[in-house]
Amino acid sequence: MGAYFCDDGKWGRGTYTLTMGKHIENDIYILGIESSCDDTSAAVIKNGILLSNVTASQAVHEAYGGVVPELASRAHQQNIVPVVDQALKQAGIEREQLSAIAFTRGPGLMGSLLVGVSFAKGLSASLGIPMIDVNHLQGHVLAHFIHTADDDYESPSFPFLCLLVSGGNSQIVLVKSYKDMQIIGQTIDDAAGEAIDKCSKVMGLGYPGGPIIDKLARQGNPEAFTFNKPVIPGYDYSFSGLKTSFLYSLQKWIEEDPDFIAHHKEDLAASLEKTVVDVLMKKLRLAAKDMKIRQVAVAGGVSANTGLRNAFHEYAKRYGWKVYIPKFSYTTDNAAMIAITGYFKYKDKDFCGIDAPAYSRVSV
Ligand code: KG4
Repeated sequence: MGAYFCDDGKWGRGTYTLTMGKHIENDIYILGIESSCDDTSAAVIKNGILLSNVTASQAVHEAYGGVVPELASRAHQQNIVPVVDQALKQAGIEREQLSAIAFTRGPGLMGSLLVGVSFAKGLSASLGIPMIDVNHLQGHVLAHFIHTADDDYESPSFPFLCLLVSGGNSQIVLVKSYKDMQIIGQTIDDAAGEAIDKCSKVMGLGYPGGPIIDKLARQGNPEAFTFNKPVIPGYDYSFSGLKTSFLYSLQKWIEEDPDFIAHHKEDLAASLEKTVVDVLMKKLRLAAKDMKIRQVAVAGGVSANTGLRNAFHEYAKRYGWKVYIPKFSYTTDNAAMIAITGYFKYKDKDFCGIDAPAYSRVSV
């Protein structure tokens, strides 16, 4: 039996035995496609095990100090075919072996998302296989379930708390199952990564600021400067005040010493990083305590940060947490997390129709 189109507009599928004259085994091969911002990524997962994860980053934005949406979608257009091709080659499979295509439906930049969504639609229609729409934020959380054939990473068991921190989000997510996630706290204004990137820009450092601040912070004194910390009720965050406090303090210090940034950039980076990490961890600790949960994970681009990773290990010792920190390559945007989410949805036959739209805003 081949692929078919159900009455409800979703792809359904019987047991494949023969397709295009080839015997198809019962192995499940999922191609994941991620194009929500400025990384074009494709990955192949076989029966839940990662075979390839190829990402093309876009250096074009560095000159502008931030992602330029129009340039991002143009670069995705150029990259998508070679990136998918490379992912299939590295996985050692032909596209006819694919069982389904999972793609990021949002949140993200509309022009960027549309490249991945349209590509996934075209390829799935030409191969006659189902499509799976994936929420980018759920993908970040489920990055903790990516495994290669030879890794020894222990995935969390349910329920666990996940601190999801990226350039666009800062959230505490209660993860009850692969598909049941609840945001219990989130930023009411800027995301942590956005605040770090903006402060880095104010200091005249490159883009993205996160990795630069991280590197400088390793040589600086985190107690050198203090910046305003938000006072927000519950588990919510706010980072816009910190950004303003950083800018105003810097302007004042530069009046006294025009070369202040050059003289103090390591201490500024370390103090900024410490402030952000303290704010993030305080609310996470409150949530973990209130909910009596000791399995705590971190996800999203900012989870690559050394200070944040160290804080997780410290809290593990201090509060008896079991912490889950993904590999660097699975923290920033990548298609492996989309493919693993797609794999779980495939097993539930949770497919989408050819009319599935991209969403620039969507919650977990
Ligand atoms: O998840 P991500 O790749 O993209 C989305 O925002 O969806 O996250 C990007 C963010 C940027 O703000 C970047 O500066 C930050 O993650 N980032 C870091 C580090 N590496 C990336 N922030 C702090 N320290 C890092 N090492």
